[in-house]
Amino acid sequence: TYGGPYTYLSVSEPRPGVGQVTLSRPKALNALCTPLIKELNTALRHLDRAPQIGSIVLTGSAKAFAAGADIKEMAPLTFSEAYTTSFIESWSELVTAIKKPILAAVSGYALGGGCELALMCDLIYCTSTATFGQPEIKLGTVPGAGGSQRLTRAVGKSKAMELILTGKFFSGEEAERWGVAARTFESHEKLMEGTLETAQTIAGYSRVAVMAAKEVVNKSQDLALRDGVEYERRVFHSLFGSEDQKIGMKAFAEKQKPEWAHK
Ligand code: CAA
Repeated sequence: TYGGPYTYLSVSEPRPGVGQVTLSRPKALNALCTPLIKELNTALRHLDRAPQIGSIVLTGSAKAFAAGADIKEMAPLTFSEAYTTSFIESWSELVTAIKKPILAAVSGYALGGGCELALMCDLIYCTSTATFGQPEIKLGTVPGAGGSQRLTRAVGKSKAMELILTGKFFSGEEAERWGVAARTFESHEKLMEGTLETAQTIAGYSRVAVMAAKEVVNKSQDLALRDGVEYERRVFHSLFGSEDQKIGMKAFAEKQKPEWAHK
């Protein structure tokens, strides 16, 4: 049950080694209320700890990945409440503290906090008609879950400024063209099929190598190039201490398929 039962999401293992979290608050287009985020946190932590799971897919419905933070919940919040409770802080922990790769499969709306949640994931696949955007400016506020930072790193400053200052939506097709999404699909069904296929490929590799790969790529977002390259080399060196490096390279030399130890 991966920490369930849950009210606002479901957890499944649609392919061997692949854990899927499906956001399910259809009446509010998966608006990310605090109890939903708590459940997401719990589900992701359970999947991260589950030894049979090698990769995680996070998705919503064909209509909405998530239409943002819950505006009705936020509306009456005061500065003191937001500041003292570190409102939203737990969001970035949730995806960024997970060691296994998280693939966002985005159909429909990914707005505000929904767009930011997708950007926190390790890669984004979407439908070409998906609707992304940071419309916080229209509500008299700014992105609060990393959008101004992650979107800017993804699309560059000028385009990020345009999107965040106007609140203009952008399509899945544009998201792919600008490097926000890795790939687009023509329907929700094809998107899920394609995402699960990639997730299954990843889950078939050595767990330790996959986690290390995620870690080093994500470091590139935080570190200067020289530090990032050095960090990568340290991790690369450390993997000579893993069983799977020996298994993988021996199998290549012997023209065999590697049987990973996952240690
Ligand atoms: N919060 C709370 N409820 C939301 C919501 C949100 N972000 N988005 C949609 N809903 C609710 C609507 O209030 C509506 O509920 P009722 O039936 O009770 O009225 C229901 O979901 C269906 O929505 P609509 O009737 O509006 O559906 P639509 O198809 O006409 O429009 C939409 C869809 C364009 C996505 C529109 O719902 C919309 O603009 N939503 C808000 C998007 C937004 O501004 N998101 C950013 C939030 S701020 C944020 O996220 C801060 C941050 O950085 C962390």
